[in-house]
Amino acid sequence: MIPLTLARIAEITGGELHGDPAAAVTGEVVIDSRRAGPGGLFAAVAGERADGHDFAAAAVAAGATAVLATRPVPVPSVLARSILVGDVPAALAALARAVIDALPSATVAGITGSSGKTTTKDLAAQLVERLGPTIAPAGSFNNEFGHPLTVLRADASTRYLVLELSARGPGHIAYLCRVAPPRYGVVLNVGHAHAGEFGGLDQVARAKGELVEALPADGVAILNADDPRVLAMAARTAARVVTFGVDDPSAAIRAADVRLDDEGRPTFTLLTPEGQAAITLRLHGAHIVPDAVAAAALARELGLGLADIADGLCAAVARSRWRMEVHRRGDGVTVINDAYNANPESVRAALQALRHLAAAGRGFAILGHMAELGGTSRASHEDIGEFAAQAELAGLIAVGDEAAPILAGARRVRSWTGEALAVPDGQAALEALSNQLKPGDVVLVKASRAARLEGVAADLLEGAAR
Ligand SMILES: Nc1ncnc2c1ncn2[C@@H]1O[C@H](COP(=O)(O)OP(=O)(O)O)[C@@H](O)[C@H]1O
Ligand SMILES: [Mg+2]
Repeated sequence: MIPLTLARIAEITGGELHGDPAAAVTGEVVIDSRRAGPGGLFAAVAGERADGHDFAAAAVAAGATAVLATRPVPVPSVLARSILVGDVPAALAALARAVIDALPSATVAGITGSSGKTTTKDLAAQLVERLGPTIAPAGSFNNEFGHPLTVLRADASTRYLVLELSARGPGHIAYLCRVAPPRYGVVLNVGHAHAGEFGGLDQVARAKGELVEALPADGVAILNADDPRVLAMAARTAARVVTFGVDDPSAAIRAADVRLDDEGRPTFTLLTPEGQAAITLRLHGAHIVPDAVAAAALARELGLGLADIADGLCAAVARSRWRMEVHRRGDGVTVINDAYNANPESVRAALQALRHLAAAGRGFAILGHMAELGGTSRASHEDIGEFAAQAELAGLIAVGDEAAPILAGARRVRSWTGEALAVPDGQAALEALSNQLKPGDVVLVKASRAARLEGVAADLLEGAAR
C-alpha cells in the first residue's frame, strides 16, 4: 500500500482514532491475523466462525501498526493503536478508493461473467504483467473484502490492476466499480451461476452489465460476441466497444480452428486486426478458449503486441487451484480436479473435456450438487445427468441428496449403458470407484464449493501413489 498516517486513515474512513496520528501504515492491509506483518493494518472482521477482534492482539504482536475495528478491543497494545469505524468493509472500500485516486498512473481493468472470471483474470494478468507492474487478486478474491484488499496492495509502482468482479445480487458490481473505477471492462458470459438468487438470466445480465455502465467514455468495454446477453450490453456503456468470440466472424478478436490435443489442451488460431497467431494453451478444455481470447483482447487494448500476446498465452499456467487440473497417475488413470465450483455451464464444459480425454478409455464423473440455482435446481441437475449420459460415460456417481436428480436425468437416456450410483459423501464415492479403475480411465471430480470434493480428487491421486 502507499504509506498512510493513522490520521489520514481516520479521515478517509471517518473513524475515531486512538493512538499516534503520525504513525504510518506502510505494510499490507489484512483481515487474517496470521498474515499480519510489520507496518501493516489489521482489519477486524466478524465472520460466521470467528471474530477478527479476538485476533487483534496477535496482529499487533506480529507488528501491525494499527487495527481497524468496530469496537474497542480491551487489550492495552490494541487500544493504543485503533481506528474505530461503523462498518469495516465500508472503511476498506473508502481506503481502497483513496489509494486508487492517489495513483493516477494505475489503470484498472475489471472482469466479470458467470463462469471463467478467475481463469480469465489469471490469463490476463500473465499477459498484462509484460506491460508493467500488475496487481491481480489471488484465487477468487473478488467480493466486498477481497476486492478492496487487492486494490490496497497497489503502490506508486503499480501500472495495472486486473480485477475479478463477482455479484450475488444487483448493485454488487456497481459497488465494486466505485471502490476501484475501471477503465477497461470485460464481460465473459451470462449463465446460471447464482441465477437462483438473481431470479433469472435477464437479471444476471442486468447485474453483470453494471461493469460496462461504470466505464468512462474513454474506456473500453470488451464484450463476448457469442453471448447475445453480453453483446446487448453495448447499449449500456459510454465506452468504446470491442468484441471477442470463438468462430463468429463479427468478433474483432477471435479464435478459429479450435482443436484439443490428447490431454484436452486447446490449440487455435488467434485472429486480430494486426494479424494472426497460433496458440496452444497449457490449460484444459475447449471452454477456456473464450477466456483466453478475452484476456488477449484486454491485453491488446492495453498495448501488448500480438507476438507478446501469443507468447504469453502459450506460456500461461493455472494460478488458481482446483479448476480443470488434469493429473495423470503412475498407473495411467487420469484425474480431473475441477472441484472449485459448479454451475450448469461449467459442468457441461467439464463433461465435454472429460469425454475428449476419455476418448480412448472409460470416463467416470463424480459430481456433487450445483448450489444456488433456486427453483430450477432440480431440473438443472436432471439436465446435467442427461448430458452426462449422452457423453457416454462409463460411470456417474452423484454425491449427496441434492445431486441425486442427476441420476434421474441420466436414466432418461435409454441408450446409456453406464453405471449410475448415488452415494452420501466423497468417501463413499472413492470406495465405490477406486477398485474399478484401470489404465486409460479418466475421472472427473466436480461440485460446488459447498460440497468440498477437492479432497476426493486428492485422495484418488494419493491412492495410486500408495
Ligand atoms: N467460459 C467458460 N464457460 C464455461 N465454463 C467455464 C468457462 N471458463 C471457465 N469455466 C469453468 O468454470 C469453473 C469456474 O472457473 P473460474 O475461472 O473459477 O470462474 P469464476 O471465477 O467465474 O467462478 C471451472 O470449472 C472452469 O473450468
Ligand atoms: Mg472466481
